[in-house]
Amino acid sequence: MPAIKPQTPPRLPLGLLLESMKKVFNMLTVAPQKYPDMLITGIPGLRTVYMVNNPDIAQYVLQKNYRNFPKAKGYEVLALLLGKGLVTNDGDNWHMQRTLIQPAFHRETLRRISNITVTATNQLLQRWKAQEGQEINFTREMAEVTIDIVAKSLFTTDVTANHIQTIWKNVNFLNESADAMLRNPVHLPWIFPTPRHLKMRRSIAELDELVYGIINRRKLEKNPPPDLLQLLLDARYEETGKGMNDLQIRDEVMTIFLAGHETTVNALSWTWYLLKKHKGAEEKLKEESIKFAGERDPAFEDVPAMIYGKNVMNESMRRYPPVPVVGRRSAQKDEVSGYLIKAGSEVAVNIAGLHHHPAYWPDAFEFKPERFEHFDLKGDNRFIFMPFGGGPRICIGNNFAMLEMQLINSMLASRVDMELVSEDVKPIALVTLKPENGVVMKLKKIKTR
Ligand code: HEM
Repeated sequence: MPAIKPQTPPRLPLGLLLESMKKVFNMLTVAPQKYPDMLITGIPGLRTVYMVNNPDIAQYVLQKNYRNFPKAKGYEVLALLLGKGLVTNDGDNWHMQRTLIQPAFHRETLRRISNITVTATNQLLQRWKAQEGQEINFTREMAEVTIDIVAKSLFTTDVTANHIQTIWKNVNFLNESADAMLRNPVHLPWIFPTPRHLKMRRSIAELDELVYGIINRRKLEKNPPPDLLQLLLDARYEETGKGMNDLQIRDEVMTIFLAGHETTVNALSWTWYLLKKHKGAEEKLKEESIKFAGERDPAFEDVPAMIYGKNVMNESMRRYPPVPVVGRRSAQKDEVSGYLIKAGSEVAVNIAGLHHHPAYWPDAFEFKPERFEHFDLKGDNRFIFMPFGGGPRICIGNNFAMLEMQLINSMLASRVDMELVSEDVKPIALVTLKPENGVVMKLKKIKTR
């Protein structure tokens, strides 16, 4: 039998391409309705992007043949800030760093993180108690708690309100800049002192000062705590017996700091936005949470029993995946599921699309936490629902994030009465999926302990 010639995936018509640039998230979620497997997008002649909407192809790119699909060129923009940290690193060097860092996310660490999360959330509720009757930007408030949690968990460092302001302001600006540069493939090289580049350099310098401050203070400590920072400082490469240099440590610290709060903030914001629009789900979460967090603080051991809380988190990340797309590029030409991928192209795994694919998700645009009651998260479904990515580069902080979010949610659901003020919040698909202007709530009654 003659071999079947692999096909080139259909190309998104120019009109639709221009339309989709205005509503990126919408385009990502509806794309599989017309293009269930893969499509080609990008500016003809300048940029070819294969957008993957099919779980088998996603698995091929991210897992089965991941060596042929290193990180997309776009990550070079992120690397301006993150250097060669885990998110932007590649190849053998990435593998070496991932192996060194992985132990910092083991079970004993998670138990510590659970205590830190509960303390940080109690402090938040104390603050909110004094603001009863007032409006808050819930997204900004979640940033404050999650920055505090990641700093204490991984670097045993207290961050001051000033630090949080520095991080929030600079990260938001750099995130927008990275996105502007990623969308426009014809921007000037980094060495040109354009106003944007100069402002970005100042932002990076401010964050650098903060991070090097944490590292340098630690080096002077006589009895350092056994956290991630110490693990990075003490780690020795097998081949050379040498440790990481300061720049590599800075890159990893910056990466985990950023990756560890930005996504979580978005996930929590969308969750509470959705819960407020679906009162039945909020009531059910409250009912479950009162058992663990009503009259006492929730414990690490309680989390596996927070079943509805987990379903709510998963359904929220299905509807609004905090990382809507992961980008790779094809080193060599490749063939998958009967399609041809040319060498040197961009490959975008459309997580938002996979999460709304009509073949796998009935009523895909509705919020129904119950659908996760019978959804096997570990089996063949891993590439149908993949908020944390998939394959060897799956999010290193996924258990950290789930634990943190479930604990926070149980405390908010059982102790906070708040009202949604924002009406229809627009999702902005930058590197992460942000709620435009944040989700605004009015605090009505807060129960503190
Ligand atoms: C709701 C929360 C989170 C979501 C949705 C999320 C999502 C993701 C995704 C999709 C990736 C894969 C990117 C790719 O394949 O290109 C990733 C990677 C990563 N995440 Fe997360 N993440 C979350 C929380 C965290 C936390 C709490 C940490 C650390 C404390 C973290 C640290 C990282 C790091 C270091 C990587 C790079 C891993 C590697 O390439 O080896 N993330 N995350």
